[in-house]
Amino acid sequence: MSIRMDAVRVRLGDADVLSDVSLSLDARTIAVVGENGSGKSTFARVIGGLVPRASGDLSVLGLDPRTQAAELRRRVALVFSNPDAQIVMPTVAEDVAFSIRADRLGAAETARRVSDALERFGLSALADRASHELSGGQKQLLALCGAFVRRPELVIADEPTAYLDARNARLVADHLFHDAGHRLVVVTHDLMLAQRCDVAVLFEGGRLAAVGEPGEIVARYEAALGC
Ligand SMILES: Nc1ncnc2c1ncn2[C@@H]1O[C@H](COP(=O)(O)OP(=O)(O)OP(=O)(O)O)[C@@H](O)[C@H]1O
Ligand SMILES: [Mg+2]
Repeated sequence: MSIRMDAVRVRLGDADVLSDVSLSLDARTIAVVGENGSGKSTFARVIGGLVPRASGDLSVLGLDPRTQAAELRRRVALVFSNPDAQIVMPTVAEDVAFSIRADRLGAAETARRVSDALERFGLSALADRASHELSGGQKQLLALCGAFVRRPELVIADEPTAYLDARNARLVADHLFHDAGHRLVVVTHDLMLAQRCDVAVLFEGGRLAAVGEPGEIVARYEAALGC
């Protein structure tokens, strides 16, 4: 089972933001949907090991984020909406290389991995450009490139297409879905994107409302929204 939760509760500030979440998910691609403030990002951050649970049991790729955080960080990559917050190095190629610095691959192997990854994301021509000069869409592709160059087993993406135009949103989504080498958890308000997943999870008011076939979950969610 890639994600298992048993009565997980998450407290932020003085409120329970997730309550009594129990689920077992083994699908390769998982969509997370729900209204603003329903707890989706908190769910993504808990499974990514960024936010601790207050109680309950949790396992991600067979690991407990509380006690096996370093191993989890090695095997999971996180992608967020705002690419500016994810880019740390001055140039495009340096930024991608930074993602695999901990692997100590040596200069030649690092350069080869970076060059392959840039090629795959259509960024080769921009390798020496200043990262901050890229457009928003190019920055998000760079963030994705930095995530995938690490060859993660699980990619957790929180609204990865939120600020992108239709073309870049499709490009980013295609990268997230096309490579069969990783599992994907994608939090999204794009209900078409959600329906590309194998399974969908619906949150309501910090609680798990439903898990199931994405078409059915999206229909239930739209009915709840009254649209
Ligand atoms: N650091 C925090 N301290 C206190 N409350 C928080 C904190 N972060 C989030 N919350 C609250 O937790 C609830 C769930 O937030 P979360 O970000 O998980 O929602 P979301 O479903 O991702 O919403 P959106 O669709 O708007 O991104 C909200 O009511 C939010 O105000
Ligand atoms: Mg959110």
